[in-house]
Amino acid sequence: MNISIIGAGSWGTALAQVLLDNQHNVLIYDIDQQVVNEINTLHTNNTKLPNILLPESLVATTNLKELCDFSDIMLVSVPTKVMRVTLKSLNEYLSKPIILINTSKGIEPDTFKLVSEIAKEEIKDGYLKGFVALTGPSHAEEVILRLPTLITSASENIEHAKFIQSLFSNQSYFRVYTLTDLRGAELGGALKNIYAVAAGMIEGLGYGDNAKAALISRALVEMKRLAIAKGASDETLNGLTGLGDLVVTTTSHHSRNFQAGLKLAAGKDLEEAISSIPMVVEGARTALSAYIEAHRLDIRVPLIDAVYSVIYEKTPVEKAVEAMMGRTLKDEFN
Ligand SMILES: NC(=O)c1ccc[n+]([C@@H]2O[C@H](COP(=O)([O-])OP(=O)(O)OC[C@H]3O[C@@H](n4cnc5c(N)ncnc54)[C@H](O)[C@@H]3O)[C@@H](O)[C@H]2O)c1
Repeated sequence: MNISIIGAGSWGTALAQVLLDNQHNVLIYDIDQQVVNEINTLHTNNTKLPNILLPESLVATTNLKELCDFSDIMLVSVPTKVMRVTLKSLNEYLSKPIILINTSKGIEPDTFKLVSEIAKEEIKDGYLKGFVALTGPSHAEEVILRLPTLITSASENIEHAKFIQSLFSNQSYFRVYTLTDLRGAELGGALKNIYAVAAGMIEGLGYGDNAKAALISRALVEMKRLAIAKGASDETLNGLTGLGDLVVTTTSHHSRNFQAGLKLAAGKDLEEAISSIPMVVEGARTALSAYIEAHRLDIRVPLIDAVYSVIYEKTPVEKAVEAMMGRTLKDEFN
């Protein structure tokens, strides 16, 4: 099959290789002409995936019309802050309805809208045939090395979820499950990035394994409170797109959200922390969305509060931890 990919970042490029390994044809689009030239001529994407030689069959373009003509199956992997404008820009060139596969993990701050909701608003009427979130514990740096990875194809339409499962699954390193709880998958994938920032902060302060384990288990409780209130199922949050993604991102130095947390703990402000990381850091923006929504709904989210106060109120990380530790004593689950 032909598949169009929007965003030749680390994740879009790694997923392109999975599709090529599975004998599909891929055209990948990026706004960055240099990245496109590098993929086409040197078969590398060194800023995003250093020291990796990409398949020569991977073709890149900056031409959106060419991308839209190539396939009606489109995968999008761009920072969520440019999601609206990116999806809107397709309308001029779409000549048939598309199945959109989203792999970006974030929530719009002012509206708390998920990418599935943004897509419904931005893709012109009658041209969004289906929406699938492909999400779960998956670092591009490992997928590009073809290391075993399990993720989830989530869609309200089970036939679409199964179709995308069949495109991406292979017997050697990429196994895809299906799920119909699309909201749960999108919420889990986005919220876990906030806790990755917190995990980096903890590491940066030199805290030990006790603190890391505490962070993961309390993050899951907190993430469930907010996600279930927003329509997710409890089961989804215990699965690959919730706990699975939370564990991988809070324990791995591959996570750029974790890296941002490390820099915040070292006293850098958000701009400094982010500017030294060559890939998108979604957790900071999602912390803002989640903070606003949790407080609007009166949901207790002390970890999100702490990350928010470090990033947006410039509270020193130690002070934010002190504030959490000093809270009124409580029952574990109530
Ligand atoms: N990297 C991973 O391991 C991984 C895994 C799962 C999900 N994700 C999610 O995927 C999304 C992308 O992550 P990434 O790591 O690939 O980011 P990245 O920073 O490596 O790449 C983003 C790419 O998007 C391109 N871009 C920006 N605006 C664009 C536009 N308007 N049109 C087309 N391209 C545009 C940039 O030029 C860049 O090449 C994020 O939401 C991230 O959370 C990443």
